Amino acid sequence: MTERNTPLVDAVREARSQNRHPLLVPGHKMQYDQDPATIGYDLLHDLVRDDVGMQGGADSTAYTGGFLDAAEQLYADAIGADHTRFLVGGSSQGNISGLLTVAMPDRPIAVDRTSHRSALAGLVLSGAMPEWIFPEVHPDLGIPIGVTAAAVRAVRPDVTAVFITSPSYVGTLSDISALAEAAHALGVPLEVDQAWGAHLDYMPGLGAFVQGADVVVTSIHKALMGYSATAIVSCRGERVDPNRLDRSVDITNTTSPSATLLASIDATRHIMQTEGLAAIERVIEAVSKARAVLRRVPGVVVIDDATAGVPVDPTKLTLWLPPTGTTGTALSDALWGHHYAVESSDSDTIVMTFTVADSSEWIVDIAGFVAGLIEGLRGTPRTPTPAATWQVRPDVVMTPREAVFAPRRRIALEEAVGAVSAEQFCPYPPGVPLLGPGERVTAELVADIRLAGTLGRVAYCSDPTLATIEVVDGS
Ligand SMILES: Cc1ncc(COP(=O)(O)O)c(C=O)c1O
Repeated sequence: MTERNTPLVDAVREARSQNRHPLLVPGHKMQYDQDPATIGYDLLHDLVRDDVGMQGGADSTAYTGGFLDAAEQLYADAIGADHTRFLVGGSSQGNISGLLTVAMPDRPIAVDRTSHRSALAGLVLSGAMPEWIFPEVHPDLGIPIGVTAAAVRAVRPDVTAVFITSPSYVGTLSDISALAEAAHALGVPLEVDQAWGAHLDYMPGLGAFVQGADVVVTSIHKALMGYSATAIVSCRGERVDPNRLDRSVDITNTTSPSATLLASIDATRHIMQTEGLAAIERVIEAVSKARAVLRRVPGVVVIDDATAGVPVDPTKLTLWLPPTGTTGTALSDALWGHHYAVESSDSDTIVMTFTVADSSEWIVDIAGFVAGLIEGLRGTPRTPTPAATWQVRPDVVMTPREAVFAPRRRIALEEAVGAVSAEQFCPYPPGVPLLGPGERVTAELVADIRLAGTLGRVAYCSDPTLATIEVVDGS
């Protein structure tokens, strides 16, 4: 049994055991696990009783204990990074600070166009010019199957970095080693949004760093057990200055992070280092059984290495449904009716995420339940309607930053065809913009946005009814 080395977890526990009554924030004063006479105890007790601040809570106001630094270094060591920062703003914050580290104002940077909208935010803040690159799309299934090294080799030679997303939302994996080699041949760092792949860091050979990435962003709250919104951003090697990463994180960071949230990253790292691989192997076995159950359902295509033609995260359960006659959205609604929320769904696919916190029995049982629901929804096999998100090839007129700060006017969405969007339209999930700021509106995109609006939430646009759009004045 490895000796427990969890400096931040220990510091939080110590703070709680001392029953401190701070003379500073947080405003709940750590009283809601101590004193039922505290104002609003009934409402707040469950919500904030575990919350310990970093400053003057888990550590002194001057951080003299160094617990956060120590925990971050332990995480870096665990994943083969030189330097790691813990975040409480999710991989969204990670992508923004990661991009601020490798991008430069008015300089081109190669960015996967199927990236999460936070990559766009990083471009707006940095003022860099995206040179969009695109993942291959499976010809039959319409899902992204990874950015290729050839796509990276084809980018203009003066990019400052290459930024890609892997795993994709549906679980397909890019060949990071080949992409790192291609980026390094251009003399620039490879940044990987590995938001969905925190577990990969604990599987031999699969983490982005061991495959040669230079900056990696990882959600600890997605594939692992961190508190909601926890993530890390890390760097390695000569191509990235850790000091610049620190400054970029500091630009995006709160000065008052919750030590409880941060300590959940420290705890997760320790658990994964000691029990993680065995637990992941157990999940993989259970998901493999679940996949077998669903493969037996006529018409269901289980997305795996064989059907996708590229490696797929073995903990993910993604189904492609057109031959069953039902839709991912209808299946998702049916599951929600039984109090099960799925990771995402669209017309053709449904994505279910399993982690080491799920029991093997439950994973297999739920597959049987899903199979039953599909039978109940079965209809005539239908023509696939692949999500437009993975197919977008934007007509870029100006940088995202120029468009976000440009004078604008509001017009009806249908009237905007030919104009330049000043904003983004982003089906959520997966949070990949169909239309981004600086991109020309086309009739096809308007139809895609309308369809996305019938299937789920289209987020981050100024008119949630989708009736109107802000376009760049004069466009
Ligand atoms: C690929 C990808 N990157 C980044 C994010 C943002 O992650 P977070 O929710 O941790 O901010 C998401 C969220 O869904 C995502 O899918």
